[in-house]
Amino acid sequence: MNKNKSHVTWGGRFENSPSQLMISISESVSFDHVLAKYDIKVSKAHAKMLFKVGIINKKECSNIVAGLDCIIDRIEKNTFHWNKDYEDVHMNIEQALLEITSDASKLHTARSRNDQVATGMRLWFKDAIIEIKKDIKTLIDQLLLMSEKNKNVLIPGYTHLQRAQPVSFAHHILAYVEMFKRDFSRFHNLLNAGNICPLGSGAIAGTTLPIDRDYTAKLLGFIDSNGDSMLTQNSMDAISDRDLFIDFANCCATTAMHLSRFSEDFILWSSSEFNFIKLPDNFSTGSSLMPQKKNPDGFELIRGKSARIISNAQSLYILLKGLPLTYNRDLQEDKPPVFDSYKELCLMLKVASATIAEVEINKVKCKESVSDPLLLATDVVDFLVLQDIPFREAHHIVGEMVKLSEKLNVPLSELNYSDVSKIDSRVHKDWNQVFSLDGALNSRRGVGMPSDEQIDKQIQINKTYFNL
Ligand code: ARG
Repeated sequence: MNKNKSHVTWGGRFENSPSQLMISISESVSFDHVLAKYDIKVSKAHAKMLFKVGIINKKECSNIVAGLDCIIDRIEKNTFHWNKDYEDVHMNIEQALLEITSDASKLHTARSRNDQVATGMRLWFKDAIIEIKKDIKTLIDQLLLMSEKNKNVLIPGYTHLQRAQPVSFAHHILAYVEMFKRDFSRFHNLLNAGNICPLGSGAIAGTTLPIDRDYTAKLLGFIDSNGDSMLTQNSMDAISDRDLFIDFANCCATTAMHLSRFSEDFILWSSSEFNFIKLPDNFSTGSSLMPQKKNPDGFELIRGKSARIISNAQSLYILLKGLPLTYNRDLQEDKPPVFDSYKELCLMLKVASATIAEVEINKVKCKESVSDPLLLATDVVDFLVLQDIPFREAHHIVGEMVKLSEKLNVPLSELNYSDVSKIDSRVHKDWNQVFSLDGALNSRRGVGMPSDEQIDKQIQINKTYFNL
């Protein structure tokens, strides 16, 4: 026998073993070992099914199941040795099982790594989504607390990063609650989309052996609300479909984009120019050169990492777009982007929650900034509209008033009525009664507007929705 003869699982038709370089490019166990728990679940269900349909006997089945339990125990205790020569998590586990029981050589009957990977990943996605949902919920909880605590703090709202209209701090924060709530339900919907079992699709065209797909699907929890099994309907699609990977990566990308915008607001607010908030020391860093610096690195890294999460979604589209059906080894590269997005997104969500729990609001500075009367220029327009001046004319009149206040260097609210009435005699003498921030906020009573009543309602609705 050739001394180089391959000992790898698929080595029967080979004269020589793969070179070290081939092993380096081929191995995935360095990243797919995180699938161990799911792979073992899939293998146990498969073994039970093989026994049920009479392909293996009871003893063989129980030896396989006991062996797999022993392997997962070693993996959890970190005493399992991962070997790159065995390529991936699946073959590492199969090899280890062979050392425990020779019955292991029957386990791979009527299955392929292709349907094994597709099934294991679906189980991984279920858990990953549940974890992300938890982290989003914690962030929303913190945001609602922050809104509640700062209901009475008013700040300028911005468009084009120019002062626009006054809002409450809570209204601004509740905007993010809306975004993260959409993220939460996007992830939730993915749970449904992923709830379908590809096991039994084999390498491409199923198997000639009398397997029971319903049984394995049910054992693995791929069932609908009636308890019926949920099965993929085309074996070729089932083993090459990576839509769930893309949908998951896109959900992560959208959440990361929201976190990035959120971070940008907090970074701006923490600058001396805004000075609306003070960041906690334990989520900031200093400068090695400038002793006075306190930098918002936590938020900056959330913003930075969002680029990586967005590009992970792009990587998957690029990976898939040119692949002919069905499985191609390129597909092994489908896992690093989703594992990375999951790990980084959870970290970003946790850092965001922990940071805002300790952010301090500079109420004095907020009050000073929001007292700019120009923020209520639109309210003056509305006042004139109620005097039956057409909106376009009213807008023009107030524009002239702003111009005059700039020219005279007098705050808009303090222009003399005589000057104002020269711009347009229809302007009522009480025109400047609109310069009350409380009045301005509480006149915005419609759904989704920043009046106290609406803010209270929104906080309550969200608390009920998230069971907080
Ligand atoms: N590690 C491989 C992957 O994740 C397993 C599938 C191998 N299938 C094959 N036909 N070589 O894609």
